[in-house]
Amino acid sequence: MIEVSAPSNIALIKYMGKTDRVGNLPTNPSLSVTLEELRTSVRVSKLSQEGEDDWKPLMEEGFSVHLSSSGRLRFLSFLSELKREMNVSDALLVESGNNFPSDCGLASSASSFAALTKGVYAYAKKAGLINRELSLEELSQLSQRGSGSSCRSFFSPFSVWESEGAKSIDVGFEAFKHFALVFEGEKKEVSSSKAHVQVLSSLNFLGRPERATKRLSMLLDSFQGGNWKAAYEICWAEFWDMHSLFETSTPSFGYLNGPAVSCLNEIRSMWSHFDDGPLVTMDAGPNIHLLFRSEEGERALKNWISPLKKRFPDMSVVGS
Ligand code: PMV
Repeated sequence: MIEVSAPSNIALIKYMGKTDRVGNLPTNPSLSVTLEELRTSVRVSKLSQEGEDDWKPLMEEGFSVHLSSSGRLRFLSFLSELKREMNVSDALLVESGNNFPSDCGLASSASSFAALTKGVYAYAKKAGLINRELSLEELSQLSQRGSGSSCRSFFSPFSVWESEGAKSIDVGFEAFKHFALVFEGEKKEVSSSKAHVQVLSSLNFLGRPERATKRLSMLLDSFQGGNWKAAYEICWAEFWDMHSLFETSTPSFGYLNGPAVSCLNEIRSMWSHFDDGPLVTMDAGPNIHLLFRSEEGERALKNWISPLKKRFPDMSVVGS
């Protein structure tokens, strides 16, 4: 039996739109921070009888998972692809779970598909079915075929994904303090797979790859130059750019809700007040991600998280 885990990641420059749906080739480069503390664990074991592979939730304290029937099919179909790639013919049982609440809308496919790729690789290696080590880059490229954003989860603390694949990138500093402000746990009505297709119908998509590429280079410059406020402004514009693609697609769709928008307004006022604060971003969901410089630990709780909790009592906070 094999047990491995992989972290989630949150993009500051977003992957949204594909040039190829089979290989999940992105229309633009993206940059993410790896969230080491938010992980999916996967246990891979051989089923005693020949037959179909199976998936079950990992029944361990502190782990939870929710997979819809279509999510389960997608996961199992990628398992078959990985098995073919790694010469595995045994029927496998895969148990998986997240160490973060699975019903809070944070459960991105990134950590699940990265963990599955690592799990099948570890199984094949242990069973002597592959005769060479696969590099992190190779594993990341395999995982990309299951879920695009998962390819960035192999590198830490920052990962950049350009046309040749994902790799780690030194942006000039290492650590972050991450909090997710969770406003809604319900399942998304439009999955990210659908969003990648629908955004191509937005007139705002014209110029989107160029804007994302430009923002990536501006963000790297602002990190290198220690210009944190500029980095905040770029990340802010970038997540709104992605959400405006959603809202201006045909048909239009969106993930924002009232409390999340009020909270964003509050965060912007707090940023003006302190002339400092966290990087702010949102994924394809109503939750807000805050990334503080690591030395801001205490101040982050006192000046930001506690007041925001008071102001939005229905919001839950993931992170410490
Ligand atoms: O879940 P995927 O791999 O189809 O893509 C999701 C992409 C976003 O999370 C919305 C943005 C990103 O870059 O992670």
